Amino acid sequence: MKITYYGHASLGIEVNEVSILVDPFISGNDKASHIDINSLKADYILLTHAHQDHILDVETIAKRTNAMIVSNFEIASHYESLGFEVHPMNLGGSWDFEFGNVKYVNAIHTSSFPDGKYGGQPGGFVIEGERKNIYIAGDTALTMDMKLIPLQIKLDLAILPIGDNFTMGVNDAIIASDFVQCDKVMGYHYDTFGYIEIDHEESKRRFFDKGKDLMLLAIGESIEL
Ligand code: NI
Ligand code: MN
Repeated sequence: MKITYYGHASLGIEVNEVSILVDPFISGNDKASHIDINSLKADYILLTHAHQDHILDVETIAKRTNAMIVSNFEIASHYESLGFEVHPMNLGGSWDFEFGNVKYVNAIHTSSFPDGKYGGQPGGFVIEGERKNIYIAGDTALTMDMKLIPLQIKLDLAILPIGDNFTMGVNDAIIASDFVQCDKVMGYHYDTFGYIEIDHEESKRRFFDKGKDLMLLAIGESIEL
């Protein structure tokens, strides 16, 4: 499983030749200006919730790639009405896709489209690939529901928001990594806007002090699991 960070909460995941994009917000991110959305591969686009900083590039990319959009019922219905191929899910549900099993799990946040339309309940994804399992938390507060995840799955990586203000900050993300029983964490949802700027070295040190590894990837950088 290869994971690429495209800035903010945008991820690329490659599993067995299948390309997945998560929450594409790239063309609107000054820090990601070196990423060309027209060069990104996508067989699937997973969306955690409907906020602009998670869906901005969905239509452009889905039009070019015919990617299937996977999200909660309200977001899937929105894109289906625009003519896109979708797979609707809802909280607690899982589905076997060609690349692995995906479960849409609870997040504590809000979810509305940029025009104010209801975007369903926000969520995160647990992806069970052939050999590696990851948790993409989405925008969320620290929540006890995270403790449910390791009852069923052993995670290899937890991708957690760490920017604070709109989501968990570093200290809560450290507790979240305890809750999901995964000490290998990739931080996201930080630095994009003034509200969520973090001190990288200080954040890594706080994780390190608890025996955990916080990865902060450069935009465009990939890791192999
Ligand atoms: Ni949000
Ligand atoms: Mn967000």
